[in-house]
Amino acid sequence: MTESLQDIARRLVAPGKGILAADESSSTIKKRFDSIGLESTADNRRDYREMLFSAETAMREHISGVILFDETIRQSARDGRPLVQLIQANNSIPGIKVDMGAKPLALYPGETITEGLDGLRERLVEYHKLGARFAKWRAVITIGAGLPTPGAISANAHALARYAALCQENGIVPIVEPEVLMDNPNATHTIETCQKVTEATLASVFEELERARVDLTGMILKPNMVVPGKDSGQNASTTEVAERTVAAFHATVPTSVPGIAFLSGGQSDVLATEHLSRINQIPDRPWAITFSYGRALQAAALKAWGGKRENIAAGQAAFLHRSRMNGLAALGQWTPELEREIA
Ligand code: 13P
Repeated sequence: MTESLQDIARRLVAPGKGILAADESSSTIKKRFDSIGLESTADNRRDYREMLFSAETAMREHISGVILFDETIRQSARDGRPLVQLIQANNSIPGIKVDMGAKPLALYPGETITEGLDGLRERLVEYHKLGARFAKWRAVITIGAGLPTPGAISANAHALARYAALCQENGIVPIVEPEVLMDNPNATHTIETCQKVTEATLASVFEELERARVDLTGMILKPNMVVPGKDSGQNASTTEVAERTVAAFHATVPTSVPGIAFLSGGQSDVLATEHLSRINQIPDRPWAITFSYGRALQAAALKAWGGKRENIAAGQAAFLHRSRMNGLAALGQWTPELEREIA
């Protein structure tokens, strides 16, 4: 029986679970491997992802879905089993990054537009055959002098909506990711500015989604949290981040959206967890709110693994710990004591 978009979306944000973003492009994964002195070959990329996807307890208990890169969805584990099957065997859903990256937006210096709409229908048909049941498209919004412009916001919102409509046409749940950056060069903006820009962006995204006839009950929103820019010198409390983030959602996100799954965006592992937990303690939350982290879920595991076969168990243990902490945060139950106890 084919699962409905609503069923898939609900499974992705099931209580205590979240999404592993393992869809680093070839250039991004090279940067991650550089940090552990490992060459970025197809086999090393496969070994690394296999280590994560076969971490049985972490995957079964805390990871509802995994976002893959095009290369990975076609790769097999060392024993010949497709990596997609490893994910499915752990009761987790394979997903796929389908955007082709953020490129300079013509006549808008300093801003980008995400490409990848041409031919997307055909690619989605193939990805569905390969096992993907959800997809991701990331739009990037940069705060700076005079930025973002309304033109860049609406161009990106429009592309997200066209992507989301194509996904739903093909039985794939769209993860709609408009990321307001916190870690661009010279990110001196305050948390107040981040909230204003996040609200303007989300408002535009939902206007375009509705115009494109996207069924909001069959999608997941992947936003940034409302935080100060990394060079702002501002220290926002966990409570302020949580309150402003949820306030931004109340102002813009229809309650028919079943789930919100955050990106980590350059926050440290533990802070990304702590913020998520605090957000899940705010009383009025009509959406399931969880994680869809890349760096904040993988950094410790990557380091512990270090590209060595003998360290697979250590890498998986680090991944389990981080997944468990974020699973607790998705329930609003993370504490610093638990962080230390289990570590
Ligand atoms: P980070 O959690 O590292 O920001 O990555 C999430 C993601 O998928 C960005 O597109």
